[in-house]
Amino acid sequence: MADTPMVAAHHVRLGSNSGQSMTRRDGIAKVTGTATYAADNHPENLLHAVFAGASIARGRVTSLDIEAALAHPGVVHVMTPDNTPALSQDPDQKTTPFTARIDVLQNDKVRYAGQPIAVILAETLEAAVEGARLVKATYDSDQARIGFDDGEAFDPEAVGISTPPKFSTGDFEGNRKKAALSASVEMETPLQYHNAMEPHAVVAEWDGDHVTVDMPNQAIGLAKPGIANYFGIPPENVTLRSPYLGGGFGSKAVLFGPQMLGILAAREMKRPVKLALKRDQMFGPVQHRSATRQSVRYDMDADNNLLAFEHKANVSTSSFDNWLDGAANAGLSLYATPSISVSHTGTRFDTGTPGAMRAPGIATGSAVIECAIDVAAEKAGMDPLEFRLLNYAEKDPSNGKPYSAKALRECYKAAADSFGWKDRPLKPRQMRDENGLLTGWGMGTSIFHAPFFPAKARAVLRKDGSARAETSGADMGQGAWTALWQMAADGLGMAADDIEFDIGHSDLPDGSVAGGSAHTASAGGALFAAGNDVIRQLAEIATQDKDSPLFGAGNERVLGENGRLFKAEDPNVGESYIDILQRAGIEEIEGRGRGNRDKASTETYAMFSHGAVYAEVKVDPDLFQVRVTRLVGAFAAGRIINPRLAQSQLTGGMIWGVSFALHEEGMHDKRTGRPLNNDFAGYHIPVLADVPHLEALLVDEDDPHVNDLGVKGVGELGITGTVGAIANAVWHATGIRTARYPIKIEDLL
Ligand code: MOS
Repeated sequence: MADTPMVAAHHVRLGSNSGQSMTRRDGIAKVTGTATYAADNHPENLLHAVFAGASIARGRVTSLDIEAALAHPGVVHVMTPDNTPALSQDPDQKTTPFTARIDVLQNDKVRYAGQPIAVILAETLEAAVEGARLVKATYDSDQARIGFDDGEAFDPEAVGISTPPKFSTGDFEGNRKKAALSASVEMETPLQYHNAMEPHAVVAEWDGDHVTVDMPNQAIGLAKPGIANYFGIPPENVTLRSPYLGGGFGSKAVLFGPQMLGILAAREMKRPVKLALKRDQMFGPVQHRSATRQSVRYDMDADNNLLAFEHKANVSTSSFDNWLDGAANAGLSLYATPSISVSHTGTRFDTGTPGAMRAPGIATGSAVIECAIDVAAEKAGMDPLEFRLLNYAEKDPSNGKPYSAKALRECYKAAADSFGWKDRPLKPRQMRDENGLLTGWGMGTSIFHAPFFPAKARAVLRKDGSARAETSGADMGQGAWTALWQMAADGLGMAADDIEFDIGHSDLPDGSVAGGSAHTASAGGALFAAGNDVIRQLAEIATQDKDSPLFGAGNERVLGENGRLFKAEDPNVGESYIDILQRAGIEEIEGRGRGNRDKASTETYAMFSHGAVYAEVKVDPDLFQVRVTRLVGAFAAGRIINPRLAQSQLTGGMIWGVSFALHEEGMHDKRTGRPLNNDFAGYHIPVLADVPHLEALLVDEDDPHVNDLGVKGVGELGITGTVGAIANAVWHATGIRTARYPIKIEDLL
C-alpha cells in the first residue's frame, strides 16, 4: 500500500486483515488468567491500601480516631488530612470533561457518602481491611440532598458548563401554534453506577521522583500529564501501564481520588502500594450516570409531519463539580423537523460527581425521545416505523448539514424484516403468547455521533522482514487489541500474525482516548497511517533502485501486501520487503502516522452512526413481570473492521439497554444519603436469564467523509434506541406508559 498516508476511504486499500472476523488476539491470555490486570501486579515489599469512606453525605469530619487501626497487627500507617501532604495541583482546580475534582484527604469536608476520609496501609490486604473498619469518625452532619425535589437547582449556563445547555433553531413558537397534533412525554431516569467487571485499582511504585503506575485507563495520553500535574513532576517521570481493562464505560477515562491516594501513599511510604476498590466503593468516588427528569414534545401538522421538537432535561450533578449529562441534546440530529428547542437545567445532589457512562447524554435522552416519537405516531394513528420513515431526516435538522453517510433506512428495513415487524397490530394489548403472556413489540432509532481524536502511532519494518506497530491505546474489553492490530497490519501490508503489536502503556505514541466510540477510527487510523508511511518510504527506495523490478514505477502505483511490494497494475512485478531492504543495506524503516479527518468535511457534514432496534417483551398479565424475549437491531457505522467484534459491541450495548429499561437504579437513603444498593445483590444488571434472543445485523455503509478509512464507532450505538424500544414494547403489551426507568412491576399495576 504505497499510497500517501492520508487519502479518502474509497482509495484506500485495506488489506486482507480488516473486514475479517478475527478472534480476539488477547483471548487466550484472558481466559487462561495470564493477562495482567492492574491489581495482578505484586511488586516486592508491597503495602496494601484500603480507604475508609465517609458514612455521611454532607458535612465535616470532626474527629478521626485511628488508634485502634494503628494498633492492629500489620497496619503500618493511617493517612488522614492531618498527615497527608498537599498535592502540587490544587484538587479543587476548575474541571474539564476529562478531569474531576478529586478527594485526597486535603481537608475535613464530606461531599458524598463513601468519600475517602482515611487510608490504611498494611502488610496484608486483610490487615488493611480490618484497619479501615477500626477507624472511628465523628461528623458534623448536614441533611443530604439527593433527588430532584431535594437537590439545589442551578442554571448550567451560569456556571459555564461546556456542553451547550440550550439550543434552538427555526420558528419554534410559530410552528407550535400551527400544530394540528402534539405528543408529549415526561419521564425520569435514575442514577446509574458504572460496574465494570474490574473495579478501579492502582499499583504505584516510586523511584526517586519517577513513578510507575499500573492502573486501568482509557486515556493514557491524558492520564500521564494528569498524574504528573498532581505530583509536581514532569510527564516523562510517569510510566503508566494499562495493557488490559476489565471494562471502562467512561469511568476509567478520568483520574479519581482513590487512584491518586494510592500513588500518594506509595510516595509517602517509600514502598510500592496497591489500592483496589471494593465493589461497594464503586458507588461514589468513581463517577456514575446522572439522574434525569425530562420532558419531550413533538408537534405535527395535519399530515403528520413534525413541525417542532422540544426537549427539556433536568440533570443531576454533584455539589462541587459541574459535569452535565447532555440528555436534551440526544434528539438534535434525529428526526426531520423545521424547529427545535432544547434546554438543560441542573440539580446538585450530594453524590460523587457523575461523568461519561456508555453513550452519555444520548442513552438517557434517547430513552425518552423514542417514547415521545411513539406517542406521536399513536396520536397520528400510524405505525411507529411508518411514522419514523415519514419524518426521516435527510439533513441534520439542527444545522441543515447533509450526513456524511446515513444508511438508517436500510437499518429500519433489515431489522424489521428479520423481526417480522409487518405483523404488528397497531393497537396495544392485542397479542398473547401460547402461555397467555401479554406480548408487545416496540422499536427505537439508534444514533451516536462519530467524533475523531488526534491519535498517533508508530510502525517499524526491519531488514529481516519483521515489523512492529504501536500506539498507547486501550482495550477495555471491546477488542482494541484485535481491531487495531488488524488495521496496523493492513497499514504495513502484512498478515496480522507476522507483525508485533503493542498497546496499553505510556511509552508508546499517544493513541488518544478510548471513548466516544472513536478509538477504532482514531487510533486505528493512526496505526494504518504509520504502516503506510513505512511502505511509502520503502516504495521510494525500490522505485529508485535500478536493481529492483519496481524501478521507475511511480510511487503511487505500487502496493504492499503480504510482505511484498508490487505494481498495482501488474501484481506479478514486484519483490519482497526483505529483498528491498537488504539490497539497500537499511536496518529498519520507521513510520509515523496520525489518522485524519478532513477539516472541510467536519464543517460540511453531520457525522453519525445509526441503527434501528426492535424489541419483543412479554408481560405476565397477573404479576406484571416484564421480560424482553427478542431484540433485533441493524446498524450502519461505516466500514466495519471486525464484524464479530462489532456485533459483540452492539449486542453488549443492547443488553445494557435491557439493563437501563428494566433493571439498573442507584438508590440512596434519603436520610443519610448513603447508597442503599451498592452491591450486585441490590444493584441489578441483567444476568443470562434476562438476556433475550439477540441479533445485531450490520448494514453496509460507505462513508467517504468521516475520516480516511470511513470507520465509525459501534461501542455506544447499541444502547441508544434499545431502551425506548423496550418501553414502547411494554406499552404495546400493556397499554401503559410508565413515567420512569427502570420500568417496574409497581408501575404497571
Ligand atoms: Mo465512553 S462513556 O465514551 O468511555
